[in-house]
Amino acid sequence: MSDDYILEFDNVTKTFPGVKALSDVSFKVRRGEIHGLCGENGAGKSTLMKILSGVYPFGTYEGRVIYDGKELKLESSAIHQAAEEGIAIVYQELTLVPAMTVGENIFLGREPTVRGAITWDNLYSTTQTILDRYRLDVHPQDVVKDLGVGKMQMTEIAKALSEDARVLILDEPTSALSEAEIDKLMEILRTLKANGVTCIYITHKMNEFFRITDTVTVMRDGKIVTTQPTKDLTPEKLVSYMVGREMKERFPKGNRKPGEVIFEVKDLHADWDDREVLKGVSLTLRKGEILGIAGLMGSGRTELVMTIFGEFAKITQGTLTLNGREIKIKNSHSAMEHGISLVPEDRKRHGLVLMQTILKNVSLPNLDRFSGFLRIDQNAEIVESLRIAKELAIKAPSLHVAAETLSGGNQQKVVIAKWLLSGPRVLIMDDPTRGVDVGAKFEIYKLMNELAEQGIAIIMISSELEEVLGMSDRVMVMCQGRTNGIMNVADATQEKIMQLATGIA
Ligand SMILES: Nc1ncnc2c1ncn2[C@@H]1O[C@H](COP(=O)(O)OP(=O)(O)OP(=O)(O)O)[C@@H](O)[C@H]1O
Ligand SMILES: [Mg+2]
Repeated sequence: MSDDYILEFDNVTKTFPGVKALSDVSFKVRRGEIHGLCGENGAGKSTLMKILSGVYPFGTYEGRVIYDGKELKLESSAIHQAAEEGIAIVYQELTLVPAMTVGENIFLGREPTVRGAITWDNLYSTTQTILDRYRLDVHPQDVVKDLGVGKMQMTEIAKALSEDARVLILDEPTSALSEAEIDKLMEILRTLKANGVTCIYITHKMNEFFRITDTVTVMRDGKIVTTQPTKDLTPEKLVSYMVGREMKERFPKGNRKPGEVIFEVKDLHADWDDREVLKGVSLTLRKGEILGIAGLMGSGRTELVMTIFGEFAKITQGTLTLNGREIKIKNSHSAMEHGISLVPEDRKRHGLVLMQTILKNVSLPNLDRFSGFLRIDQNAEIVESLRIAKELAIKAPSLHVAAETLSGGNQQKVVIAKWLLSGPRVLIMDDPTRGVDVGAKFEIYKLMNELAEQGIAIIMISSELEEVLGMSDRVMVMCQGRTNGIMNVADATQEKIMQLATGIA
């Protein structure tokens, strides 16, 4: 490949109150390549990309960004300027307006008009063309909030691609995608590359760097560690650059000794909007055990745990039994009274109050535990929260900063901390390590082991088969709203799980 660079970062430094998010970042991106950006939670990846897209305009950082031979100077008032320059970004957190349709979202702020009136036919037919071009299975008039997270993510990508981009930035695009959707995205990226589009690709899934990138840049603590051709790297090397040490194993060995059955679900059926979403789920859960739940997107895993937690579908048949007694759960509050906690999948919607401080977020569901008569015991609250924040290595200047200032992965850790603090007997975790870097994943796994060793029963939904196999005692596979198999991890293989998940077996 030639030494033709479309982007050059030259000593870029960005500071937030109390945090140096980027310090003297210098590296180059070749024209037409797929350039991976890798680094732990809080390393500065998203911040750097936000400089490129104009969220942090010229003058709010030091150093220079050279784009196609000229210094990039995005102005604070011009939100479409980066797009006009040909720089498109898909942010880590979804930015679609939930109440609007796919078409309205794609054309938000630049709707086609004739004499000042929006030409809806034109808007929707153009949307259809874009969706067709990338063979995306969504309808232009679908309302975004009715789409699953995977389809929302694909809509975000379509939106970014709807203006002719020369540089496309994808910040963890696959964290909410199914295997099939990921394959589709990889295909789209190859097509774009063939058409000369440069792509910057951020992910925590190590295998994706090897699948799609030409070059990888690794960041740690706001600094560049290295930039190398992907072919010179191995997954082990990449991880060690990222965490700054060798990581011999990905899953810590625990000393779990599952005991008697504490929780049981028997033939659960449930309706949501007059549609049967659960069609016969049965499982048992032992004290001190980790039960992994595998299944494809849409297999009903999240629906199951949200329903158990009393926050989703209406149970029409079947029972929940805790400690040998049948229980009814009306809502999350009553679930928690029974000692059942849920680390939800969608941290933005169900997990975090972004404007609140870390401390408030962690202690919010736990007020009963800390409140004395008419006053909250601030000290106990702080001591406990600090302990958990430290265990999870949440990267923040203090517990008093707003959750929205944290990096994506660190927000996820806050959600986990909040539910750990509630002292559950049954802990349900819905994709707990999504968007979390390899080092922090290891910390979360260690914590899960410790909790299980203390006798807490854990249900863990996971989309990563390696994680299911690496962390579970038993694995349940769901397919189309049903339990389609449950086995000891010793008897489970990736093939067997996939066969059960796709309904072949
Ligand atoms: N608006 C903000 N105010 C204060 N601090 C911020 C803000 N945005 C980011 N930071 C801090 O800057 C650092 C870099 O964050 P950034 O979001 O760039 O990390 P990241 O590499 O994208 O991590 P992740 O993999 O978790 O998404 C973090 O310490 C973060 O807390
Ligand atoms: Mg990020």
